[in-house]
Amino acid sequence: MIIVLGASSTRLENRVADILGCRTVQVERKVYADGESYIRFADDVRGEELTIIQSCSPPQDKSLVEILFMASTAKELGAERVALVMPYFAYSREDMRFLAGEAVGANIVIKLLESVGVDSLTTFDIHNEETMKVFSIEARNLSAMPLIGEYFSRMSLVDPLVMTPDDGRPERAGTVARELGADWTYFEKKRDYVTGKVTTYEKEVSAKGRDVVVVDDIISTGTTIANCVVSLKRQGARDVHVACTHPLLVDGAPCRLFEAGSKSIVGTDSIESPYSVISLAEIIASHI
Ligand code: R5P
Repeated sequence: MIIVLGASSTRLENRVADILGCRTVQVERKVYADGESYIRFADDVRGEELTIIQSCSPPQDKSLVEILFMASTAKELGAERVALVMPYFAYSREDMRFLAGEAVGANIVIKLLESVGVDSLTTFDIHNEETMKVFSIEARNLSAMPLIGEYFSRMSLVDPLVMTPDDGRPERAGTVARELGADWTYFEKKRDYVTGKVTTYEKEVSAKGRDVVVVDDIISTGTTIANCVVSLKRQGARDVHVACTHPLLVDGAPCRLFEAGSKSIVGTDSIESPYSVISLAEIIASHI
């Protein structure tokens, strides 16, 4: 197996390659002045089994085009098999037609990946597990939640409580809570599909004097989790830590979260950020 260090090579891919000690292929990458992408395999990949590791991190469309170019080119150059590890699955939240006429982005990404010859896909904490059923190729969805739980178990949290910001995947809180020997619950929220505004319903939880960890798949603008932090602080929580697998952290999210009262922001290196303190490298290395 040869690991293809993604066109926008990050620390995660290099860590996986170091752990496995296997051969790597670097892909040359350029972006032309007008914004178009260029990639080139400098090494011969004929007959090889390749694993491309590249997250679909911002700018998502550019990352996706690079992934499509790499997979397609590898096959055209005679690669035997192309496995893709794409820790962050961009467009996974567009998993259905919420309003008439909308594009179902998640399904379109799957069609594109399959059409360029990707033979298998590995991702992490995809927004909706149901999306995995759309794949015709081998596809698996791993979770960073046990690692997030382990991370917090090394801190001396006081009477910890774990929460998710909505009832979409409350079991994520359950997984983190198991590592901490803590209990867990969830808030409920509503998103206005036209304005995008998120409303979190007031819910009494037994947070008084306790340290709370709020976990989600994605923190984008931070608005969803900030709503939870405000409610938890109002209810007397001691420290509130926020955590996610995919720290997109756009539009001033860290400020929003700290101003709401978060004690810390914890994410994985699915997307590189100053808050990516947990690495997915070991899990990826053990699965490929
Ligand atoms: C959506 O339901 C996701 O699970 C996240 O809760 C959402 O993407 C977070 O977005 P934001 O940080 O912008 O509120």
